[in-house]
Amino acid sequence: MVATLLHEIPLQGGDVTDGVVRVGDTVRRPASSSTPAVHALLRHLEAAGFAGAPRVVGMDELGRQILTYLPGTTGLRLESVTDEALGCLGVLLREYHDATVGFPLTSKGWEGGSNDDRAPEVIGHCDLTPANVIFQASRPYAMIDFDLARPTTRLFDIVTTLRHWAPIADPVDRPPLLRNLDVGARLRLFCDAYGVEPRDRRRLIELARFRFHRSYAVMRTRATAGGNWAKMWAGGAGERIRRAVVWLDAHEEELHAHLV
Ligand SMILES: Nc1ncnc2c1ncn2[C@@H]1O[C@H](COP(=O)(O)OP(=O)(O)O)[C@@H](O)[C@H]1O
Ligand SMILES: [Mg+2]
Repeated sequence: MVATLLHEIPLQGGDVTDGVVRVGDTVRRPASSSTPAVHALLRHLEAAGFAGAPRVVGMDELGRQILTYLPGTTGLRLESVTDEALGCLGVLLREYHDATVGFPLTSKGWEGGSNDDRAPEVIGHCDLTPANVIFQASRPYAMIDFDLARPTTRLFDIVTTLRHWAPIADPVDRPPLLRNLDVGARLRLFCDAYGVEPRDRRRLIELARFRFHRSYAVMRTRATAGGNWAKMWAGGAGERIRRAVVWLDAHEEELHAHLV
């Protein structure tokens, strides 16, 4: 065991799970109640030929998940905020959703969280933040961290992704690299790349607003349990959602016009 520990390299960049480490070509992550469902999903993706997610290797002697390590970079940098990168991300999310088709849409076993009221269509990733997308140069080619995956609609997962990448946020809360982008144009570009249906495009802004209200309530509840969720809440997560709603209301017509 000592030999294993010596070769553990802590992986930074995530904001929720403590103790994510790299060991050789693998990543070790603490297991949680959703781990069996997540591993079944990752195995389904592998069988479906989807290359944009880690493979499950198994569990280690400390009860941690063993996943394959995917080389590349995470987080925002100049080449990850380009139109080209956003288009690739739209294609990646589409390929992922299509690859989940056939996986049972039962709600049991997943972490849970805010959701659409409509019947689920796919297993959404539901947390496609910059820290959870792996890039090689300017191309996002894989997604990691399926802790919040759950049955949902395609559009709910699209809205969650665009929250971070368009981004659907008040400019004061955006990372500097995303501050001066044309959000409406980026919503459209992403939807074109994904191939979002017209009826879903018409519903996108409405669902974004609905999701903010749901997420706010879910995060506030989670924060009462303490831990990293409480830290995120204390760090202003709720206020950022409230400002995003105000920004969305103020720009609704202009954003909607890009989509329809
Ligand atoms: N399979 C993987 N391949 C490469 N890097 C990974 C992998 N899993 C995690 N990482 C790195 O570790 C960071 C934290 O891991 P993550 O699974 O996202 O945990 P958290 O729940 O803390 O967000 C990621 O942002 C990424 O940089
Ligand atoms: Mg993460």
